[in-house]
Order: sequence, then C-alpha cells, then structure tokens
Amino acid sequence: MRLTLASLFALATLAVAAPTVDEHTKHHGKHHGSHHKHPAVKGKAFDHILQVWFENQDFDVVDSIANWKNLAKEGILLENFNAITHPSEPNYVAAAGGSNFGITNDDYYNIPANISTIYDLLEKKGLTWKVYQEDIPSVGYTGYKAGQYVRKHNPAVIFDSVAENPKRVKNIVPGTQLDADIKAGKLPNWMFYTPNMLNDAHDTDAKYAGKWLKRFYETTLSKPELLKNTLILLTFDENASYPQRNRVWSLLLGDIPKKLKGTKDSTYYTHYSTLHTVEQNWDLGSLGRGDAEKKSNNVFDFVAKQIHYKNLNVAEHDIPLNNNTISGLLTGKSFNETHTSGTPPP
Ligand SMILES: *[C@@H]1O[C@H](CO)[C@@H](O)[C@H](O)[C@H]1NC(C)=O
Ligand SMILES: *[C@@H]1O[C@H](CO)[C@@H](O)[C@H](O)[C@H]1NC(C)=O
Ligand SMILES: *[C@@H]1O[C@H](CO)[C@@H](O)[C@H](O)[C@H]1NC(C)=O
Ligand SMILES: *[C@@H]1O[C@H](CO)[C@@H](O)[C@H](O)[C@H]1NC(C)=O
Repeated sequence: MRLTLASLFALATLAVAAPTVDEHTKHHGKHHGSHHKHPAVKGKAFDHILQVWFENQDFDVVDSIANWKNLAKEGILLENFNAITHPSEPNYVAAAGGSNFGITNDDYYNIPANISTIYDLLEKKGLTWKVYQEDIPSVGYTGYKAGQYVRKHNPAVIFDSVAENPKRVKNIVPGTQLDADIKAGKLPNWMFYTPNMLNDAHDTDAKYAGKWLKRFYETTLSKPELLKNTLILLTFDENASYPQRNRVWSLLLGDIPKKLKGTKDSTYYTHYSTLHTVEQNWDLGSLGRGDAEKKSNNVFDFVAKQIHYKNLNVAEHDIPLNNNTISGLLTGKSFNETHTSGTPPP
C-alpha cells in the first residue's frame, strides 16, 4: 500500500498533536523559543547525558573483548538492552523521534518539519543539546556521505525541524567540538556522539572499535568535568545477527552511584528507554510514541529508583525479537524512492 501525500501529512498532524502538555509548561504559558528567559531545570538524577553509538555488533562478541570488558568495570553493564529494528537509520531516528516513522532502509530521508522530537521537548524546558559527528565536513552539513561521515548515523539532520532551522542545525557539530565544549565548561544537557564509520565498528569490527574507545575514554570520556557531571551511555544501533533478538551491548558510565560501578543490570530496555529516562529526569512530558509505551520504555533502573518510578517487569519470553523492519508513514518515501533522477537536497 502506498500512502498518498495527503494521508502522509494527516498522519504527521496526528503525531504532532500527540505530545502531552506537562503541568510546568501549562502554568508558565508560552515556552517555545523562550529558553533565554527560563533557566534550565535541574535534572532529578543527572544534569547532562551523552550517548555514544557504535554499529552492528553482537552482544557476545563485544563482551569477549578486553577493551570493552575493562571499561565495564567502571560502569553498569546493561545486559538486556535492545535495538528497535534493522537496519541503522531507523534506530537513530527512533532515538530522537520515538519512532522509526516507517523508515526501513538507510536512504536519504527528510522527516517533515512538523514532526515533534526530543529536541522540541528539551528546548521547551530551556535545556540545550548537541549532536557530535566525527568527521562531518562542516557544522550543520546535510549531505549523505563525506569521507567516513554518513547522514544515516546522525539522529538530528534527518528531521527537517532541525535541518531547515538555521539556528538548530548549528547544533550538529564535528566530533572535535566535544573536547572544546568540555574544556570551555559549556556542555549541553543532551549530547549524542557518533564515531566515524571505522571507529564505530561499521566498516571494521568490535576489536577495532574497542581500541578506539579505549583511547576516546582516556582522552575525552574520562575528563573529570565530563565524568562527574554526565550520565554516559555506550550502546550499539543494532545487533549483527538478524535471526536473533536485537540485543545490544550497552554500558552506563559517568554520573552513576559509586557503589554500582562494575555491576550488571538485567532490566529490559530499548532505545526508547533512553528517551524516556531523559523525559523523566527533566519532566519533559513525552512524544506519545515508543517513548510512551510501557512495554518498551523502562527507565534506567538506578534512575527509576531515585525518582520512585516503577518499571515494567517483562519476562524473557515476552521480549520481542525486534529484528524486522517496521513500515509506516515514510515507507517508500526516501529521496531515491520518490525521484527517478537528480540528487537529494544538500
Ligand atoms: C505539517 O506540514 C505539512 C506540509 O509541510 C502541512 O501540510 C501540514 O498542515 C502540517 N501540519 C501541522 C500540524 O502543522
Ligand atoms: C545478537 O547476537 C548474538 C550473537 O553473538 C546472540 O548471542 C544474541 O542472542 C543476539 N542478540 C543478542 C540477543 O545479543
Ligand atoms: C539512495 O541513495 C543513496 C545515496 O546516493 C545510495 O547509497 C542508496 O543506495 C540509494 N538507494 C536506493 C534504493 O537507490
Ligand atoms: C527474525 O528472527 C526470526 C527468528 O530467528 C527469523 O525467523 C526471522 O527471519 C528474523 N527476521 C529477519 C528479518 O531476519
């Protein structure tokens, strides 16, 4: 079935209507774009979060490599963290939008500008965000591929609400900016770091990425300014073995309770858990999508305990494989599926 353009936008409208207006926003009236007047709210469990995403490796493979195992001694190993779907792009989109919006491949997509994202929820509360992309050729670059940088691993640029907004698109910055921001003491509240196609294991393997991570930890992640202040999540976009459950090796580091260092947590999580943990931490409300679904949005356990949030206990046999594509709004709507010639917009 093909969606007409009219039904596409009707759905877009629905999706926009979905976010719940939280009490804070209600009481303070108009909030949009007013974040200079409203100081950022303190987080309940953390004030900054940084996600670093790797690519396409199986849990057992990663867990058998020294560089990854050694780092696990510094954090909480999430043993039951699951990707949403295959392949890469829909997982990155889900991390910011709470849905894959029907994206089933890695092509050049533009998600309509009126689809809400985590960036809207953060900005409404005066919180800041940045997406660090190793090897992106310039700030706000919207192209498909340049050297070892790829658009499909960028969780912001695919949304036109970011790419077409001159101010917001500047939050998409080269990876080197992270060190500069740490040094300047100007860390955004919400951060996402994508290593290049070699360092994230996409075109290499878990051993290669582990070596890169060791160095990245030594030079960047272990900086006290970051480590003390920021909840860090290392995770993978998806598993490599399609016939199996889409479980991915994931580790929480940084601003975690000291006594939990070197422990394991077997709570059932998905990429929506990260969104929902962020939403709960700052009372952001929700996007009304996967982030609001009790079966896929468990909050990181140590945070849940601190804020008295009750997670859902999902039995092993009830955990979905999450290994299929999910069709919807944008299925068949990428640039090359809707144009027979020409190149996607820059
Ligand atoms: C969303 O955008 C489309 C086209 O860009 C437009 O037709 C539609 O009315 C918009 N919906 C809302 C809720 O703004
Ligand atoms: C991912 O692949 C690994 C193979 O190493 C497999 O053990 C696992 O079941 C798959 N998904 C999970 C559940 O890690
Ligand atoms: C879409 O375009 C990208 C970039 O040019 C290309 O890599 C990809 O294979 C294309 N997909 C299809 C279905 O043609
Ligand atoms: C998902 O896993 C099931 C069970 O192993 C398998 O039958 C199915 O083919 C897999 N789906 C894909 C798209 O690989």
